Formats: sequence, C-alpha cells, structure tokens
Amino acid sequence: MDGMDGLTVTDCERCPALCESRSRIVNGTGPADADVLFVGEAPGANEDEQGEPFVGRSGDVLDEVLLEAGLERGAVRITNCVRCRPPENRDPTTEELSNCRGYLESEIDAVDPEVVVTLGKVPSQHLLGRDVAVTKEAGNLSDVRIAGEPRRVLVCVHPAATLYDRSQRGTFEETIATAADLAGEGAGEGGQSRLGEF
Ligand code: URA
Repeated sequence: MDGMDGLTVTDCERCPALCESRSRIVNGTGPADADVLFVGEAPGANEDEQGEPFVGRSGDVLDEVLLEAGLERGAVRITNCVRCRPPENRDPTTEELSNCRGYLESEIDAVDPEVVVTLGKVPSQHLLGRDVAVTKEAGNLSDVRIAGEPRRVLVCVHPAATLYDRSQRGTFEETIATAADLAGEGAGEGGQSRLGEF
C-alpha cells in the first residue's frame, strides 16, 4: 500500500479533493498494542493543524470522559476513517472512505485491540456495514469481521454530540465505561473473549 507501514501513512494522493484541503495526513496516535481503538470520522481544522486526531473540543470531551473511566488518552489508540481533512468539514464521501479503508484495516490488524469503539454515525456505519441510528444503538457491542478477522465493535455517540445535546453526555460516559471494562477483561488473566468462536 502506498506510503503505509501498518500504522502510519506517509504519502497518499488517492483523493484529489482531500489533497487540496489538507495541510497534512493525520495518522492515529497511541500505543501500537492498545486494548481500545477509537475510530472517528475525519480530521477537523484543529487536527489538520496539529497532525493528531481529536485535539479540538471533541478531543477535550473524549479525554475528560476517558479519565472518568480510568483510561488515560496515552493508553488508548485513536484514529479516523479518513486521514485527511475534508473541505469545510463536510462528511467524507463513499469514495474517500473506500480509498482510506485499507489504511484503517491495516491499523486495526496491527493494533489488534480488544474492542474497536466507533465515535459517531460515519465510523459506525463504515465498520458495521449497515445503517446505524447511533443515539439508539450507543453501547451496543457487535461481533463483525473486518478484513477477514473477527472484531468487537462498540457503537458510541460522537463526543461533539454531547456538546450540542447535553442529554447525550450520560450515554457517552456509559459507553466509554463499557469500553474500559472490555479492555480490562481482555487484558486481565482469564479474559473472556468469545471471538475465537467464529
Ligand atoms: N472529529 C472526528 O471525527 N475526528 C477527529 O479527529 C476530530 C473530530
């Protein structure tokens, strides 16, 4: 794959519009063997400027709730479906998602997390491969195959949703607490992953 070492894309020109709008490619951050991998939609202006996912207001909310759940940002991996900022923060197109899909799959394979947490509608639909009503399905855990491997995917509201609608905060906190539990289960002795079964 062009310019990818498993985790990091160094060079890519697959999406002409995103090559125009981006200042840089925003790769995932966090340990290469993290138990929890968060997947957002695409970098915004702050992320594009700083070269890290979730460093704006959404990132502040994520950091705060991670800490409440006993998870430090430095202990989890955070990435996006699409690594370049779309113009005017529009949603990534189907083609852009598909162009970047191999990079995301390669990162999921390399990290091999206990749980993949999808932040918002775009990553939830992208990884579950169906329509997702995120506010209704937040906290639901699905066993799915991603690039041929069995994975656990936990649907979560986007942290920005808690800023627009305070009533989403509790749902967000509960889902992050579930992610922390799942990570602890897998990491501890006798962790009970059922993934080998399918
Ligand atoms: N929103 C996202 O989906 N990803 C980011 O990296 C920042 C905000």
